[in-house]
Amino acid sequence: MVGQRFVTLLSAHPWFRLTVIAASGRSAGKTYEEAVSGRWAMTAPLPETAKGLIVLDAAADAEKIAAQVDFCFCAVDMEKEAIRALEERYAKLECPIVSNNSANRWTEDVPMVVPELNPEHLAVIEAQRRRLGTKRGFIAVKSNCSIQSYAPALHPLLKYGVDRVLACTYQAISGAGKTFQRWPEMVDNLIPYIGGEEEKSEREPLRVWGKVEDGKIVPASAPLITTQCLRVPVSDGHTAAVFVKFREGCAPSLDQIREDWRTFRGRPQELNLPSAPKQFLHYFEEPDRPQARLDRDLEGGMAISLGRLRPDSQYDCKFVGLSHNTLRGAAGGGVLLAELLCAEGYI
Ligand SMILES: NC(=O)c1ccc[n+]([C@@H]2O[C@H](COP(=O)([O-])OP(=O)(O)OC[C@H]3O[C@@H](n4cnc5c(N)ncnc54)[C@H](OP(=O)(O)O)[C@@H]3O)[C@@H](O)[C@H]2O)c1
Repeated sequence: MVGQRFVTLLSAHPWFRLTVIAASGRSAGKTYEEAVSGRWAMTAPLPETAKGLIVLDAAADAEKIAAQVDFCFCAVDMEKEAIRALEERYAKLECPIVSNNSANRWTEDVPMVVPELNPEHLAVIEAQRRRLGTKRGFIAVKSNCSIQSYAPALHPLLKYGVDRVLACTYQAISGAGKTFQRWPEMVDNLIPYIGGEEEKSEREPLRVWGKVEDGKIVPASAPLITTQCLRVPVSDGHTAAVFVKFREGCAPSLDQIREDWRTFRGRPQELNLPSAPKQFLHYFEEPDRPQARLDRDLEGGMAISLGRLRPDSQYDCKFVGLSHNTLRGAAGGGVLLAELLCAEGYI
């Protein structure tokens, strides 16, 4: 699912040209068109430039692949240990890896970056290169898709002192690499469990908000975050219902919060990166927005849609957030991270 998004995004990218596609041994040796036959899940057609590429084996052909490319995007469904070994192998072959996988998200010297929120974490790459003994090669990862529906909205509010956050996420089936054809049990259904997702959703924002110290990322200790993550019958787009409590006496007004969202700009906007949304945090005044079908594709699926900001009887305020899980939350976020790595001189 994420790989198909990458292929689609890269077919028209102004800086990057797709030269190699690799997957498991099941696909190796086929043309990309044959390998995805019957499982192309994008609404856009299969790009002409990718159709005839012969799929290589990501593990068996690693040396050959690393020799042909400037860097590599990685999104694979494998055991964590095997992913860690695969990503490190490419880095040691001097091929930078921009990863969508969770395997290296807690490796101390691997930056986990949402480009608008913590671009300064890229500084740990120097320490990582020393550990790996590489000149060019390194691993940089993006965070889990679910946190992108609420962490970006909380980010400009941290300066007020956010004490506690409750977030319930309503996550699309493409987040499990599925479509309705391949997962008919999801039609007219809701599954109140996504393995490992709540732990990631509660912990990962704290790493994104952490600091670089002595070549490591030290996670932040606040705010406290609790979540429930549900799978819902939506093809694309993760929604979050979010409740926020500020430290005693620190709560900003709702107008101030909307203003902080409206004026927030990150490094990608400053650098005018090709995949950066112009307005990263978009607030909808209409009471029935954001909606997954209507709003997930805002600014190429790279903007975060927000709405329904209002007071709450137990927390200070509550709102709804939406982000496209395979664009901002996966391949698009990976492409934006690669653009940032190029612009900042790491690739
Ligand atoms: N879907 C999302 O919204 C999302 C968001 C953020 C992060 N992610 C992460 O991205 C990764 C991929 O997710 P997905 O949804 O794209 O999964 P997916 O649709 O199931 O695709 C998995 C891919 O991994 C390949 N693969 C499996 N075993 C392999 C091996 N031994 N060597 C090389 N390649 C192998 C498969 O190759 P074949 O095609 O040859 O079988 C397939 O192309 C996961 O780590 C997931 O957690 C997904």
